[in-house]
Amino acid sequence: MLENTVPGRGRRRAPGGFGRLTAVTAAGVLGAGLMLALPTSASGAATTLGAAAAQSGRFFGAAVAGGKLGDSTYVSILNREFNSVVAENEMKWDATEPNQNQFNYSGGDRLVNHAMGQGMKVRGHTLLWHNQQPRWAQSLSGSALRNAAINHVTQVATHFRGKINSWDVVNEAFADGGSGGRRDSNLQRTGNDWIEAAFRAARAADPGAKLCYNDYNTDGINAKSTGIYNMVRDFKARGVPIDCVGFQSHLGTTIPGDYQANLQRFADLGVDVQITELDVAQGSNQANVYAAVTRACLAVSRCTGITVWGIRDSDSWRTGENPLLFDASGNKKPAYTSVLNALNNAGSTATPTATPTVTPTSTPTSTPTSTPTTGTGACRVSYTMNSWGNGFTAGISITNTGSSALNGWSLEFTLPSGQTITSGWNATYSPSSGRVTARNVDYNGALAPGATTDIGFQAGHTGNTSKPDSFTLNGASCTVA
Ligand code: XIL
Repeated sequence: MLENTVPGRGRRRAPGGFGRLTAVTAAGVLGAGLMLALPTSASGAATTLGAAAAQSGRFFGAAVAGGKLGDSTYVSILNREFNSVVAENEMKWDATEPNQNQFNYSGGDRLVNHAMGQGMKVRGHTLLWHNQQPRWAQSLSGSALRNAAINHVTQVATHFRGKINSWDVVNEAFADGGSGGRRDSNLQRTGNDWIEAAFRAARAADPGAKLCYNDYNTDGINAKSTGIYNMVRDFKARGVPIDCVGFQSHLGTTIPGDYQANLQRFADLGVDVQITELDVAQGSNQANVYAAVTRACLAVSRCTGITVWGIRDSDSWRTGENPLLFDASGNKKPAYTSVLNALNNAGSTATPTATPTVTPTSTPTSTPTSTPTTGTGACRVSYTMNSWGNGFTAGISITNTGSSALNGWSLEFTLPSGQTITSGWNATYSPSSGRVTARNVDYNGALAPGATTDIGFQAGHTGNTSKPDSFTLNGASCTVA
């Protein structure tokens, strides 16, 4: 979505570029420890956007339309300049699940394969969004929609597991204007917790991907960005798995003065930030705005990369605004040079932030490091289920109703026959059926008297959707709320 942009005022000629490539040196670490030869000039300055960004451990990516992978000009710019890609449309809900529970990954796979062949990172865009939903999902509501949405997240994130650097788990869920609240949508009407449910399901499906919330009109400190800021702060406080926030940055002819400060306040919450869909209306200020965005990202150590929303002006969704770095013929525009120079100028001073590793917060393979203390074990459990065809998700709230703090806990229960856990969040589950023990993970082992922790899992069933009838916490039986 786009607001407050100014129509373009005619296209400018490109300036002939940054000079021929005269030397190639191994100069950066990309992706999962992959060393690549990166282009630099004789003076040592990088000559492509990707190489220049890699000097400080960042990526510089582009949104790619799968249908253009046969266009040689397009592909040669893509392969030369960018070290990250995102699918412009191919990983959206309507593309990946055109009929309920029938998945089509051909477009997404094609792009991922291209990226992997080039040593590029991949951003995933987007698991849930109010736009570009398949017709069948648009007609659902309530728990049917919630279950379908969570199933979609689980299936798609599982398919691309291990190949995605960062996922836009949820896109554009906040309202424009001064409310700072959520946008009304069919997803929002399934309950305010839909976003956290999506993040938990995504973490369970692909523990190695960074999980981002992504939105537009969040380019300065305003009511909308503050609403998102408050959500991220709350998620971090409650252990909801979120790693990054994407700022689309579909900009007009100016950039808010507090653009960098806004990125920094999110980074200070303990999440990475990324510029995810950058494009800037053509006009006398275009190169300056592009440079300002680039400098702002470089000045925030947790700003891990920039993605532009298309390659040539003629590829842009903002038809007629010429908002990109290359003109329709594939020539570099002044905005290109301003971005490249900004990246090179910062190369020596920026703090390296290369691919900070995500600590998976679900499905750990080892047992908890803390030794469970028995305490009194007195507890209360509430167990909620959302089931569909042959699957369900279960949410379990565990409250320590005893008088001593627990430092490590295990919850035991018996799954009714035919039910098998496929993935979980906020606990490890073993075995996957029958008498199951759910053990705390590292961040939720401490449970003070009166404290509650929420865990959950996704499972298959063969028709029996009844709930476990009893639970024990550290060996003591719990009341069931
Ligand atoms: C746009 C694509 O560029 C178009 O091809 C498509 O018709 C509509 O979506 N915010 C987003 C992107 O998160 O997914 C949108 O992409 C642009 C606005």
